[in-house]
Amino acid sequence: MSQKNIYQKMNETVEFIQRKWSIKPDIGLILGSGLGSIADSVENPTVIPYAEIPHFHGTAIEGHAGKMILGKLNGISVVFLQGRFHRYEGYSMEEVVFPTRAICGLGIQTLILTNAAGGINTLYRPGDLMLISDHLNLMGDNPLKGRNMTELGPRFPDLSEAYSQNCLKVLQQTATELDIPIHQGIYAGLLGPTYETPAEVRMLRTFGADAVGMSTVPESIAANHLGVRVAGISCITNLAAGLSSVKLSHQEVMETSQVSVGKIKKIIISAIPRLTHQKVATL
Ligand code: HPA
Repeated sequence: MSQKNIYQKMNETVEFIQRKWSIKPDIGLILGSGLGSIADSVENPTVIPYAEIPHFHGTAIEGHAGKMILGKLNGISVVFLQGRFHRYEGYSMEEVVFPTRAICGLGIQTLILTNAAGGINTLYRPGDLMLISDHLNLMGDNPLKGRNMTELGPRFPDLSEAYSQNCLKVLQQTATELDIPIHQGIYAGLLGPTYETPAEVRMLRTFGADAVGMSTVPESIAANHLGVRVAGISCITNLAAGLSSVKLSHQEVMETSQVSVGKIKKIIISAIPRLTHQKVATL
């Protein structure tokens, strides 16, 4: 039997999900480490464990639940991915972005990516939030390498708005109205799973990075390839290596993300109707 290509697999997954929840979602959200509870606000949720979804894997990382949640939030039809796959777990880039492609295939217009990140900008403090204005792909890999599937998107996609400036404005304005301080900055995506060395953090700062993490970049690339606009919010869970005397740990990342989860939730709930009704320039 011939192997299914990524487009065929994506369609199978989309059909499976649509049998469980037939309403087209407008907005997709991927929840990072410790941020899973943002999905608790979804009304009358349909919950599908990743283990049941064709072509998905389970997630093994603490703080990443491994569930797809569909429903309404503030009157808008949404799909949440509670848990993501990382390149450092040994998954291929294709596997890392499969869930992103699947929810884009459901017809979302906007994808909101959230993550936990280390602060590089010296003005950032643990518990702060950062809207991602752009990224540096320092993972040494790209989800679009290999033969291009023209059904998905172009061979050489433009990434001049890897993070939609429109979405950025809406999220910034929403945060300001809610009186929640939020930075705007550049996210450097590294492979991990080690945290950075202090020398690497100094290098990243000279590269222009404000925060560093191990996710988000592949998902942004895959969604842009599919013509879906992307917004990103980082929760600064710690100062990056060498910027404080505290040793970095996943425990600290998880604890600090709990401090910020309420703020991110408020911003998202209040912003999504405006993210939906905006004109979508890229589609
Ligand atoms: N580095 C990389 N990834 C991270 C960090 C960090 O300091 N904090 C949370 N995720």
